[in-house]
Amino acid sequence: MLRSIADLEAVGPAASAAASSDGAAPRPPLKWAGGKRWQLRHLEPLWRPNAHRRLVEPFCGGLAVALGLKPVRALLNDVNPHLINFYRHLKEGLKPTEAFRNLKRPYYEARDEFNELLSTDHGNTRRAAELFYYLNRTGYNGLCRFNRQGVFNVPFGRYKTINYFTARDFRPYIDTFRDWTFTNTDFDDVPLDPDDFIYADPPYDVEFTHYSKGGFSWDDQVRAANWLAKHPGPVVLSNQATPAIKKLYGSLGYSLTLLEAPRRISCTGDRTPAAEVLATRNLPDGA
Ligand SMILES: C[S@@+](CC[C@H](N)C(=O)[O-])C[C@H]1O[C@@H](n2cnc3c(N)ncnc32)[C@H](O)[C@@H]1O
Repeated sequence: MLRSIADLEAVGPAASAAASSDGAAPRPPLKWAGGKRWQLRHLEPLWRPNAHRRLVEPFCGGLAVALGLKPVRALLNDVNPHLINFYRHLKEGLKPTEAFRNLKRPYYEARDEFNELLSTDHGNTRRAAELFYYLNRTGYNGLCRFNRQGVFNVPFGRYKTINYFTARDFRPYIDTFRDWTFTNTDFDDVPLDPDDFIYADPPYDVEFTHYSKGGFSWDDQVRAANWLAKHPGPVVLSNQATPAIKKLYGSLGYSLTLLEAPRRISCTGDRTPAAEVLATRNLPDGA
């Protein structure tokens, strides 16, 4: 049921702190922009009555939501091939100690080796996964950025201490990922079953994407909203609550709930909290 914008519930930052039900699942292994760990306390009540279903995330990113909700079965997709290659190797038993023993060398050498693997079509190897992890933990802000020629060009992060020798234990991921499938396609090629529970967290609708040719454009936002509107099972769609997004989701019959995201420091030093919207469908009214 569509609630009017005036009826939207605003949830403050104190109420939206991260939460997980028993703390047993491993934490997200990578630094990844746009993590939605803070949404878990809002998502858990929606997911819990549906926990017998498969969780599908067409934009899984850093896995903060899947690892927080801990589904038994999941289909996790992202268009980023390096991210998915890393998760697939993690599932197959990637060992951090092995990775780091081989990586005791300067950042830029590791970056060159990673780019060499990409240029020789070895981007899906275990070695590429090891290097991707190292670059993610060690590079500037965990960014994943490529130039026009497809060369990974993130600079060294200049951390005071880098604890890649006391790296986390990767073994718990093997168990957690047992019935999780990782795919690497554009979102609308993700094969859905009618009773899947979908949590979709596309890149934000920010003004400049309306004009950009690459990246996630406004047309992609519309395409994602329409694609999800056809799904007969439960859908939770998250985005920044811009006027255009609220209008789009409202016009397609989603129920909208506003959340206040944790404050982030913008490039102007402004700490204004951004409003986010959870657009749901095929969930019990008021859920
Ligand atoms: C906001 S992030 C998701 C963050 C995730 N929910 C988390 O908590 O870590 C959006 C993700 O969408 C992916 N993406 C961008 N365009 C895509 C597309 N066309 N199809 C599938 N994934 C896409 C990006 O690589 C990025 O990882």
